[in-house]
Amino acid sequence: MTIYQQAAHFLSPLFPDIPTNEARPFVTLTYAQSIDGKIAGSNGQQLILSGNGSMIMTHRLRTMHDGIMVGIGTILNDDPRLSVRLVDPSDPTPPRQPQPIILDTHLRFPLGAKLLHNFQSGAGKAPWIVTAAIDGHTSLPDLLSLLRRHHGIATLMIEGGARVIQACLGAVGHVDLLVVTVAPTIVGRDGVAATGEMAGETTPATAAPRFPRLDDVRYEQFGRDIVMAARPAWD
Ligand SMILES: NC(=O)c1ccc[n+]([C@@H]2O[C@H](COP(=O)([O-])OP(=O)(O)OC[C@H]3O[C@@H](n4cnc5c(N)ncnc54)[C@H](OP(=O)(O)O)[C@@H]3O)[C@@H](O)[C@H]2O)c1
Repeated sequence: MTIYQQAAHFLSPLFPDIPTNEARPFVTLTYAQSIDGKIAGSNGQQLILSGNGSMIMTHRLRTMHDGIMVGIGTILNDDPRLSVRLVDPSDPTPPRQPQPIILDTHLRFPLGAKLLHNFQSGAGKAPWIVTAAIDGHTSLPDLLSLLRRHHGIATLMIEGGARVIQACLGAVGHVDLLVVTVAPTIVGRDGVAATGEMAGETTPATAAPRFPRLDDVRYEQFGRDIVMAARPAWD
């Protein structure tokens, strides 16, 4: 079995044939972490945690979604392309490219972003920037409803970063599938944890989120990495 076939074999059963929820998209939250639970290095320094196999799995996962969303912090820090590039060379069909969606309240999106070059060179779609008419973060439930009802996004992949992951896992019932790559790397205490506090920030005790239980847990090894898929449940 090739790594492309392995990725398809692992991911396909995790998705409903046709998303039936008319109120919001089917949401997949995904990220890569070290074995000590860190998604970035000290001061948010980008880390290449995924090996080639799990990266191919992530690109396959992208093809399975209408939209792909990150926070503006990830754009400013990592400058990702969010497009599908690692595809099975034996498959002649061009991959389906997801619609990039950026949470960016204060319109800090840089015009030199790789995402824009990607679009201009025909390798991806023009990003949608989600801002706010009044100050304050975008409400995830409202945004999900808007994307589903008015913009044709029936399946949405959320790829980080730290604040967005925390917001998603703390937002009761808005994630259907969690896909986490665990890489055999130790980052240490200065790294950014998937659900920890950011440098210089503290979470008031009253605002502590209630994290979900994980059901239907599956594991697959891709190269040196382990990928875990699970369905969050908040009851
Ligand atoms: N390992 C991985 O898989 C992975 C993946 C992606 C990123 N990362 C890492 O994550 C770090 C970036 O994380 P980050 O926390 O700085 O940035 P982020 O989560 O990508 O973006 C957070 C920003 O999004 C905006 N936002 C708007 N609505 C929001 C909402 N409802 N909830 C949360 N945020 C909302 C806010 O900025 P405004 O107030 O300006 O709107 C917020 O500061 C980097 O170190 C990067 O390397 C790791």
